[in-house]
Amino acid sequence: VDLYRVFGNPVHHSQSPWIHQAFARETGQTLVYETCEAPLDDFAGVLRAFIAQGGRGANVTVPFKEEAYALCDVLSPRARQAGAVNTLQLGKNGQLYGDNTDGVGLVRDLTQNHGQTLAGKRLLVLGAGGASRGVIAPLLAEQPAQLHIANRTAAKAEALAAHFESLGSVSGGGWSSLSDCDVQAAARYDVVINATAASLSGELPPLPDTLFTPEAMAYDMMYGAMPTIFLQWASSQGAITADGLGMLVEQAAESFFLWRHQRPQTDAVIKALRQRLN
Ligand code: ATR
Repeated sequence: VDLYRVFGNPVHHSQSPWIHQAFARETGQTLVYETCEAPLDDFAGVLRAFIAQGGRGANVTVPFKEEAYALCDVLSPRARQAGAVNTLQLGKNGQLYGDNTDGVGLVRDLTQNHGQTLAGKRLLVLGAGGASRGVIAPLLAEQPAQLHIANRTAAKAEALAAHFESLGSVSGGGWSSLSDCDVQAAARYDVVINATAASLSGELPPLPDTLFTPEAMAYDMMYGAMPTIFLQWASSQGAITADGLGMLVEQAAESFFLWRHQRPQTDAVIKALRQRLN
């Protein structure tokens, strides 16, 4: 039976084994999917052992996505753009193929599960780390009117925007770029995506109360039983809110499709996972 794993550190909290077993049941397939906590200093060694054991594919999560990218023999265009790999597949010739399904997972969750249209809209991404970088190109592919990246460290947002400037109308700046009346970035946004690690520590970036258009959507890539502090604030500002649970399931569905050539239905899995977390 085909063997899959998710590598991370820590990884014990990962819902991926449960999600992929649900997909396997739904599509009538049989596979084994396990978590594997790789030591911080030996992801490459653990991955080699998994390949030697006959592993068919793997997901990669924090903090190994960039390292996985470096270890691949072949990269998909979207992995190349993300600079990170969350999905590995072993080719018949023994080549290691790397893909990134995070961005498409976010876009599908926003557009299919939450009914958002991104074309022509003003999008804001908060944060300029790996999580942010992974979703910029897929968001720009939806042809928003503008995509602004705001980050605590302004220079990182500016560099990220410059990196993607050939793909669409993208800008970057510090938190002040959201309220500085002289800059276009200060206009309101239709969709605001939190890709910072701030929610983890229960911190809220200093966001102006002129951030959202009426009927805007606030999206947090994090998920949990309770709404994040960002979503609580967004809700108090009148925005529609969604957490990253749908993105998690959608990126998994895209990995599953790559490995198994069958696209699982996600709605029932999202519902069941929500119940499982509560
Ligand atoms: P990830 O891969 O999850 O994106 P990362 O590359 O370490 O992790 O990036 C973390 C992001 O969260 C960065 O945008 C970081 O801002 P800086 O670039 O200024 O460091 C942001 N971040 C982390 N903690 C934060 C906090 N308490 N408040 C605001 N932003 C925070």
